[in-house]
Amino acid sequence: MTPVAGTPLDTFRAELERLRHDAAEALAAATNAAAVEAARVEFAGARSGRLKAAQKLLGAVPAADKPAAGRDFNDTKASVAALLETAQERFARVEDQADDAIDVTLPGEAVTLGRFHPITQTIRQIQEIMGQLGFECVDGPEVEDQWHNFEALAISPEHPARDPLDNFYLAVARGADPLLLRSQTSTVQIRVMESRDPPLRIVSLGRVYRPDTADATHYPMFHQVEGLFVEPGTNMAHLKSVLRLFASRFLGGDVHVRFRPSFFPFTEPSVEVDMEWGGRWVEMGGAGMVDPAVLAAVGYDQDAVTGFAFGLGVERIAARRYGVEDIRDFYRNDVRFLRQF
Ligand code: PHE
Repeated sequence: MTPVAGTPLDTFRAELERLRHDAAEALAAATNAAAVEAARVEFAGARSGRLKAAQKLLGAVPAADKPAAGRDFNDTKASVAALLETAQERFARVEDQADDAIDVTLPGEAVTLGRFHPITQTIRQIQEIMGQLGFECVDGPEVEDQWHNFEALAISPEHPARDPLDNFYLAVARGADPLLLRSQTSTVQIRVMESRDPPLRIVSLGRVYRPDTADATHYPMFHQVEGLFVEPGTNMAHLKSVLRLFASRFLGGDVHVRFRPSFFPFTEPSVEVDMEWGGRWVEMGGAGMVDPAVLAAVGYDQDAVTGFAFGLGVERIAARRYGVEDIRDFYRNDVRFLRQF
């Protein structure tokens, strides 16, 4: 049956056609997601959208025309939905792109640069200065045997320095010759002299371990710089000159070095080394002429060979230079502290 103009079905179809046309026009004109959303409310809004209003007109269509009118309504509803979906996708894509796009005018994220720990920086500076004085950097193991940590250094079995309470002996101890975490870097003197002939100018920087209670000037692990100089005719004046040159270069300006008589089993004579800088004397370590007994232990001719050795605390040197009052600060790993170096 062909509908006649003016029938309720005609009116209904005309409204559907207008609605579809208006929706297409509005969505084509939409330039952003908000305009698409406004069109969605206008045409497909659940409460007062124009599709909803058209659906109400369906009631006025005679029963015989209802199936056709219902189909037309559903077609219109589907095509409006398709138009909306296309428009929504268009702007969704644009907005996604905006999210991914790089805005080159933004200031950018600050990159936090890491830096070397102050002790590492100090070690490298010491190596640099000693290198300029002709000293070669060498390394030694941190787990040592009795020979290198004590015996070759003329530290006898009865010496208090070998007391189990003063050392970190390893639980995997090898019977009568237990291994230990080295308590001094003087071990490296022995290792180098055992494997090389004089002349020698070496420095060795590394960790040493002693079961001390941590306080402002002690820590169970710390670093030493060990120096060994073996050349004919070496004397204490050479030792003092090297230490003074080193200290002046490291601390800057005029540093005074003072020797106080002391005792180490592996040097003779032995001294404590103090340094004065900025009006304050600070004890930095020990030094002396290599003891003939040590030269003999490594197979050198003790009558022909002379040399000096020194061992200084790296933390003490760094603390002095940077004005650090408590060496435990070096190990707390508080970035507020570390960032200052
Ligand atoms: N090894 C000594 C110590 O740890 C320091 C030292 C090194 C003394 C070299 C003399 C010569 O106390």
